[in-house]
Amino acid sequence: MPSNRAAYLTSAKSTPLQVKSVPYTKPDALEIVIKSHAAAINPLDHIKQSMGDLLFNWVSYPAILGSDVAGEVVEVGKDVARFKVGDRVVGHAIGLAKKHNFASHCGFQKYTVLLTHMASHIPATIPYVDAAVIPLGLSTAACGLFQTDQLAMQLPSVPAAKPTGKTLLVWGGSTSVGCNAIQLAIAAGYEVITTASPRNFELVKRLGVAEAFDYRSPTVVEDIKKAIKGRISAGALSIGQGAAEKCLDILTTCRGNKFLSMASYPFPQTPPERFVVPQIAFHYITSLIFLWIKARRHGIRRKFIFGDTLVDNEIGPAMYEHFLPEALAARSFVAAPKSEVVGHGLESIQHAMDLHKKGVSAKKIVVTL
Ligand SMILES: NC(=O)c1ccc[n+]([C@@H]2O[C@H](COP(=O)([O-])OP(=O)(O)OC[C@H]3O[C@@H](n4cnc5c(N)ncnc54)[C@H](OP(=O)(O)O)[C@@H]3O)[C@@H](O)[C@H]2O)c1
Repeated sequence: MPSNRAAYLTSAKSTPLQVKSVPYTKPDALEIVIKSHAAAINPLDHIKQSMGDLLFNWVSYPAILGSDVAGEVVEVGKDVARFKVGDRVVGHAIGLAKKHNFASHCGFQKYTVLLTHMASHIPATIPYVDAAVIPLGLSTAACGLFQTDQLAMQLPSVPAAKPTGKTLLVWGGSTSVGCNAIQLAIAAGYEVITTASPRNFELVKRLGVAEAFDYRSPTVVEDIKKAIKGRISAGALSIGQGAAEKCLDILTTCRGNKFLSMASYPFPQTPPERFVVPQIAFHYITSLIFLWIKARRHGIRRKFIFGDTLVDNEIGPAMYEHFLPEALAARSFVAAPKSEVVGHGLESIQHAMDLHKKGVSAKKIVVTL
């Protein structure tokens, strides 16, 4: 049995992560074990570390974080037909999700157990460090766009579906969730307009958006309202702090689907240093009330996304078994934003999380393992 190691969060809010030996877990019938070659950092990782049990309070300690991994298959469960030992794969490690909360299924370790319907083959031309940027961004975008309780858009295909004549607003197109959402929506036959910093317009245009707007411009809401006049809305996906309020303003005047799918939960931009729990709770509750009043007044439906709900519905297999492997092979879907490797080994993960916490622009922080 291979010897396994993990970067552990030893107790709530503990820092830095501790690298220790951890058992190697054999796969269940519909699972695979991969030897990870790359893991990417998500906001969730350092938010969980700094907020402790305010987030995912079902997680017990010592805990392992990490959702995005790419590597080679080393063992397959008895009912697995799609994968064999040696295959190159990328997967969404789902071990922090409430219903699947097992440390063995988390990403920041050498050997991770993946559910087969949350893993995809990657072509030989895509390095592990690039593939690792995809999973949580893809999953979150897919939950928001395709779940029937969210925007309920039609599924993507390879080649892209026939144009639906509808336009999706993705607020925060240069984020990891945004880059995936843009590509998924276009593959599903929707036109996309987005926001980003002007330095990232080229990126989002390369991904296929029809128009990009600077979200810091004082006229951005009015500019987008003008742009969507005459278009039929497929709804909006808000990503980033303050994005939901802006999207609600825009949806008030649009024709078509008045639904807002919200990726970002309203946490303060800078975590408070004192009275942490009351301050976060106050910000959270007042933001929710504000959103609720505004949405009700204008007849806009809205819902927050949990980027792991697709594991338990048809969207998980639609993405990881069907769309992603085919789209990567056809090069109609790219790993975006670009990866930036900041270290090697589990010992580098805390440093990578600290770097991400300082802020990134159109890149995904990755560690090789
Ligand atoms: N609900 C879920 O399950 C779930 C899952 C994953 C992520 N999320 C949330 O989704 C958000 C994005 O996560 P991510 O990993 O995709 O982010 P990321 O790639 O780390 O985000 C970096 C990008 O954020 C953009 N940005 C910063 N402030 C913004 C704002 N106010 N409005 C729009 N864009 C802004 C920056 O764009 P420019 O450089 O172009 O300025 C930058 O490129 C986070 O709030 C995260 O917590 C939620």
